Amino acid sequence: MAEATTKKGQPLDRGVLESVLRRRLFYTPSFEIYGGERGLFDYGPPGCALQANVVDLWRKHFVLEEDMLEVDCTMLTPEAVLKTSGHVDKFADWMCKDPKSGEIFRADHLVEQVLEARLKADKDARGMTIEVDEAKEAKKKRKIKDTKIEKLDDAVVQEYEETLAKIDNYGGDELGDLIKRFNIKGPSTGAELDPPKAFNLMFQTQIGPSADRPNGYLRPETAQGQFLNFQKLLEFNQQSMPFASASIGKSFRNEISPRSGLLRVREFLMAEIEHFVDPEGGKKHPRFEDVKETKLTLLNRKVQLSGSTKTEVVSIGDAVSTGLVDNETLGYFLVRIQEFLLKLGVDPTKLRFRQHMANEMAHYAADCWDAELFTTYGWIECVGCADRSAYDLTVHMNKTGAPLVVRQTRAEPLVIEEYQVDLDRKKLGPKFRKDAKAVENAVEALSQELREKLSLDLEKSGKIELQTPGVGTGTTELGSDLVKIEKRKRTDYVREYTPNVIEPSFGIGRILYSLMEHVFWTRAGDEARGVLSFPPMVAPTKVLLVPLSSHPDFKPFVKKLTSRLRRVGVPNKVDDSSASIGKRYARNDELGTPFGITIDFQTIKDDSLTLRERDSTKQVRASEDDIIAAVKSLVDGEETWEQVSKRLPAFEGQEVD
Ligand code: ATP
Ligand code: GLY
Repeated sequence: MAEATTKKGQPLDRGVLESVLRRRLFYTPSFEIYGGERGLFDYGPPGCALQANVVDLWRKHFVLEEDMLEVDCTMLTPEAVLKTSGHVDKFADWMCKDPKSGEIFRADHLVEQVLEARLKADKDARGMTIEVDEAKEAKKKRKIKDTKIEKLDDAVVQEYEETLAKIDNYGGDELGDLIKRFNIKGPSTGAELDPPKAFNLMFQTQIGPSADRPNGYLRPETAQGQFLNFQKLLEFNQQSMPFASASIGKSFRNEISPRSGLLRVREFLMAEIEHFVDPEGGKKHPRFEDVKETKLTLLNRKVQLSGSTKTEVVSIGDAVSTGLVDNETLGYFLVRIQEFLLKLGVDPTKLRFRQHMANEMAHYAADCWDAELFTTYGWIECVGCADRSAYDLTVHMNKTGAPLVVRQTRAEPLVIEEYQVDLDRKKLGPKFRKDAKAVENAVEALSQELREKLSLDLEKSGKIELQTPGVGTGTTELGSDLVKIEKRKRTDYVREYTPNVIEPSFGIGRILYSLMEHVFWTRAGDEARGVLSFPPMVAPTKVLLVPLSSHPDFKPFVKKLTSRLRRVGVPNKVDDSSASIGKRYARNDELGTPFGITIDFQTIKDDSLTLRERDSTKQVRASEDDIIAAVKSLVDGEETWEQVSKRLPAFEGQEVD
């Protein structure tokens, strides 16, 4: 796997970034003074502001632009709901235990880590050999000089790489086989590991004081609340299809082994969309035409199954027309997800869409693509985009009887020719008594094919035989005195169908962390001086006000400026500390503040101000009115710094970087 680099091409040192994020209180381990609790984090002021800006952009980009119906559903969920949805039985990961130390590992992650470490050691060993060989100018066969560095056979390297490409596709037994085959042992003890066992990821809880056992869960996704409100939302939408609901809220997963900071936590903010679409007609999307030329970097299922991770850049129009991406609606959302991530400041070269392999898909999914972002932890799934077909609405409707369907008056009534069965109920009751209902149900459930066959039987022999499990011998005979089967015409005026669901699901914490890696860099020659180049729209604070002197004459200017900026909706902070101006800007580079306004002695004379841009450290100087207008248009994304710096006079006077 390639090494992660900063936007300036420097090796990305995660330690330096993490120390900036800690120092500036973007986020911090929860309950730290009690020793902390793995997989739980609190956000500090810049983290909260960044999260709020990302959520705000999400709302504008999806809920407002796509006219979605936002809901806010409860996190506490009764057991029956999650039993029906399949989560109680199937929402699990594979864990394995080291019997000697009692340590527990997520089986796929353990295999992944061990194979990656072995491949890295092999790569280092090969690198070293080449260096040694080159030094001797010998083009001989590679030889390992240092026995501590392990070189693998080429066939083993290939097998490891192929296994890693398919790692998400293995079930419990297969992971157990891989652990044995690759001789993977308990990392701290070297002991043989127990075979992988399924571990349900939901937090169970007791709702109400009278419950005598756990009867609910903290939701693992926001989706279920949206499905259960489907009927009401459809009505709210005046029965018009397609439509989408959306929800932003916390979800909970009892991850087997939380690690990698914000990337794998036990409580996280999710933003999810459930787009309900008619399954007939290829799941078209009315705005697909507008996006079809957009190019995406795709890693498809077939390539992964062949043991490779090679991506291809394809226009979404082509991807859908060749069937690589299943349908227009799924394709439309992949594009919209990409647009959203790029607006946030994600590096386009570190974004790919990876298709799920068959075994990897959640129990409800029919097709699924993940938007993955490249980080120092490798490629990380940040947004899942699944076609959940009609799974959820169907299971909830079957369980509760609630009509989670769309009923549409047909433009043209449909004349259907079908086999209809008439039962003489007056005779059926006395003949079958308590079993009469079961016999009737068995008749109702007969398919058209069976009805056709039985109508012939009836014609030939004057009787039919029905499979009726639980009634007598399991087979029931009905004579022509009780049953009649005829082919008739029926006119259908209303079409009833269960919509399919396309679901983009965003983990906000994963996006925030990956974004912070993508926008982080250090100033040349000063590697300890980090900069977070957030786009103005998502930066926690937009402008830093820096009075050059603590002279009391500056105070009214600063006060006037902050209140004018606030009035136009631009969050700003004043730094009137005694630190040098360079230090004050450095502090704000680490907070990702994109602009700085310097108030100096000239300001007091003529109301002019200096505006500094974080990444270039270039400055312009203009009147207070012009600077405020420029900042506002920069923050709203109406102008770029390049545009502003062309129209306002450059200022070279002061060294402020
Ligand atoms: P993984 O395979 O990495 O465990 P997942 O496939 O279970 O993830 P989904 O079920 O598709 O993830 O969840 C939807 C989104 O929720 C993910 O794309 C991710 O952004 C986020 N997410 C899921 N689990 C976590 C977690 N433990 N911590 C933070 N975010 C998460
Ligand atoms: N709702 C998407 C998921 O939980 O995977």
